[in-house]
Amino acid sequence: MNEPRPFSPELTEKMNFFRGKAEKIKLGQISFDSKLILAPMAGICNLPYRVLMEDLGAGGTVSELISCHGINYGNARTLDMLKIHKRERNVGIQLFGEDPESMAKAAIVAESYGPKFLDINMGCPVAKVVTKGGGSALMKEVSALAPLFEGMRKNMKVPLSIKIRTGWDANSRNAAEILKIARESGIEWVAIHGRTRTQQYTGFADWDFIESLNDVKQLPLIGNGDLHHPFGVSERLKSSKCDALMIARGALRNPFIFLESLDPEYEQKKKSVFLGKDYWEVVQRLYDYCSEHFPEERTILVQLRKLVVWFAAGFPHAAAFRSQIFTCQDLADSMKLSEDYFLSLGTSQKSINYDEVFMSSGHG
Ligand SMILES: Cc1cc2nc3c(=O)[nH]c(=O)nc-3n(C[C@H](O)[C@H](O)[C@H](O)COP(=O)(O)O)c2cc1C
Repeated sequence: MNEPRPFSPELTEKMNFFRGKAEKIKLGQISFDSKLILAPMAGICNLPYRVLMEDLGAGGTVSELISCHGINYGNARTLDMLKIHKRERNVGIQLFGEDPESMAKAAIVAESYGPKFLDINMGCPVAKVVTKGGGSALMKEVSALAPLFEGMRKNMKVPLSIKIRTGWDANSRNAAEILKIARESGIEWVAIHGRTRTQQYTGFADWDFIESLNDVKQLPLIGNGDLHHPFGVSERLKSSKCDALMIARGALRNPFIFLESLDPEYEQKKKSVFLGKDYWEVVQRLYDYCSEHFPEERTILVQLRKLVVWFAAGFPHAAAFRSQIFTCQDLADSMKLSEDYFLSLGTSQKSINYDEVFMSSGHG
């Protein structure tokens, strides 16, 4: 594996300013480089994106959800999703499934790829997953949880965590009960997205509910939901009793969110130090990781432009750039379009309307 091209001294210096403010933490036996962790996202948190986010200050990362059955069938595409980059230091692999035996078997295979921890998806609201009993449906069958957790842990060497929602629906917000079972079954920590399954991605994450769990938790808790911009994250870092926070969608439009949020004065400054030219360096590094990982040029192009367009969100003329890059079918030309666009931005700041809904579907 090749090293990616280095960041410029100027960008490195800016990043180091924020990095110096990061607080290393331990959740159970596992240490993370900061309290801000990249949440799992299907179709996004693949190897190139995860390693890039760790380079940009994510204290840890979690893979996209990976099917235990796909692993057990030896499906080549599924096994490819288990791969980890040698630069990834704090990465976990998330498994989904419903059957304890299949999950326990898949856990052994997943572990052999070298993650720091394994995680169970207990929050996916998607019908295809829940009708089979996986994802957030696991929250409905609480009596089945201890055997599932213990069955998986029996042959595992790395810690096991879970990612849940507040409950199935407004009448069954049973996260506190699940925390208790988790603690008694040796789960290392629990991450919670502050919505019910029924809510899917509507409304807002209920942070009062998340915070209330800190009074009863007795194991580390990671809060998640609607942490879309650095000042919101920074405020939450100051006020939350959670041991760590997870960020999903916020990292798509601002790849520097893990760093910028560490500055408690960010809100007063109202200005980001990261400019178009810094984004261009990020795009080049993403290109390096994608080219190393994906054998086909078409896959590199698809991955790259999806992320590049999100990175551009809120910058001037982002819509025009988006349509240009989506009509371009050539990888080298797409990189040139990106270079021209991001370098043309000069000192322009992003302007994003965070009240508008952004990506209202996902697997957790
Ligand atoms: C596109 C997308 C894919 C997701 N995939 C997963 C997944 O594979 N596993 C999981 O536990 N959660 C998944 N989620 C949920 C996120 O991890 C997170 O809980 C949710 O988006 C709320 O956090 P946010 O407001 O910071 O985005 C996904 C979310 C999105 C938007």
